[in-house]
Amino acid sequence: MIDKKSYINKLVQLKAPSVNNASAYAPSNIALCKYWGKKNLELNLPTTPSLSISLRDRGSHAKLSLASQNLLSINGVNALSDSPSFKRTFDFVNLFTSEKLAVHSRNTIPTAAGLASSASYFAALVMALNKIFDWQAPISTLSCLARLGSGSACRSLQHGFVKWFNCDDPWQSYGELMDIQWEELRIGLLIFDAKEKAILSRQAMLHTQKTSPFYQTWCENSRSDFVLLHKAIEQKNFTQMGETAEYNALSLHAVMLAARPAIIYSQPTTLQAVSKVHELRSAGVEVYLTQDAGPNLKLLFLKKDLNAIQAAFAELEVINPFSTVNLIDNGVS
Ligand code: DP6
Repeated sequence: MIDKKSYINKLVQLKAPSVNNASAYAPSNIALCKYWGKKNLELNLPTTPSLSISLRDRGSHAKLSLASQNLLSINGVNALSDSPSFKRTFDFVNLFTSEKLAVHSRNTIPTAAGLASSASYFAALVMALNKIFDWQAPISTLSCLARLGSGSACRSLQHGFVKWFNCDDPWQSYGELMDIQWEELRIGLLIFDAKEKAILSRQAMLHTQKTSPFYQTWCENSRSDFVLLHKAIEQKNFTQMGETAEYNALSLHAVMLAARPAIIYSQPTTLQAVSKVHELRSAGVEVYLTQDAGPNLKLLFLKKDLNAIQAAFAELEVINPFSTVNLIDNGVS
């Protein structure tokens, strides 16, 4: 199988920078059908298709400037050169250039708390690299490149519902935008813990894949969930979408619970909120949840239920993924 460098060389023409700096913004994304497991570790090809919704103004800004030495700052704080984030950033950037770069990133979503900050970060990084090196690459190519940084990053180059369907062909394995606008849809973020997670999704998914006896079953179910979700979104069938997304996430956490040793991202506050969501639903308020590699929950609901849901969850941060308010690519100040 092809390695990262040869793969990149076939996708873009690597050359000297054409400008001194460039910046880009990419939205974070929440998977409604999860990516959890790899067919190919080198190129981050997934075991199953996934489907996400982008979080519009919650994501990452990245500004790149030519510099005399590599530098990374995250939300205004310089990262140590031996820190995991510095290493991960420059292992990635060095695949494209031997130039030294200063990378200033700013996240509008908590870093590494199961809120997909690495997805938006690598997507923004690739978009800024595309500008500084003037590759003029199409979104599908940038998505393939972002995938090398973090699998879920390939779904963070566009706003809206994005599917990552192709698990086999590395040249076709990219995020594809669905042509759907759903103005009434809302995403609620319930952030209980914004600290970095104890076990990163990268390690957790491999561990699940290797040790959970239920992993293959989850994969089979997840392929069906993808088909159901895709259809539900096309038909704007909220009930079908919410039920499928919640099932996909909770069944994944069950599979992780059966890994050896178990991976448990939920905290007592997570489970209390899950019960509250279920109580609301029993009382006729249609709200569903999804959970990633962390204790936080994301709620799915429609605009008409906003008041009832805010009354139940005072701390909820509400996102309108199809807002028409302009997003300004203002880089990082
Ligand atoms: C739970 O994309 O972070 O958010 O490819 O190893 O970088 P790597 O993994 P990553 O995994 C994301 C896992 C998830 C589900 C999802 O976003 O689909």
